[in-house]
Amino acid sequence: MIKLRDIYYCEKCGNVVEVLNEGAPALVCCGDPMQKLSAKSEDATTEKHVPYVETVEGGILVKVGQNTAHPMLETHYIKFIEVLTKEKVYRAELNPGDVPEAFFPVAKEAVLEAREWCNLHGLWKG
Ligand SMILES: [Fe+2]
Repeated sequence: MIKLRDIYYCEKCGNVVEVLNEGAPALVCCGDPMQKLSAKSEDATTEKHVPYVETVEGGILVKVGQNTAHPMLETHYIKFIEVLTKEKVYRAELNPGDVPEAFFPVAKEAVLEAREWCNLHGLWKG
């Protein structure tokens, strides 16, 4: 069942899409069904992916991760960080070389979920 805000991945071409309106029974890319990404929430290795939300002046700062910054290399980096509230989705798009964090003008109490996508290790939430 495709649901609002779900994120899907094409294993053939690497396309990542987010559902903005529930409608189609399935998402297809490159001739195959796209894979729904389930956000992981626990880091098992020393590399940190779980987004960490901290309150700063005027909003929140979401870091990947809390104490050790995730790599931001050409071959391995955080592509986007999202913050979900009841009525809005905020997304910061990142590039190799950037700091793996993003500011959002939203109160921490309003955050339902913060999530990020690593081009190698997938979707993570915190
Ligand atoms: Fe990673």
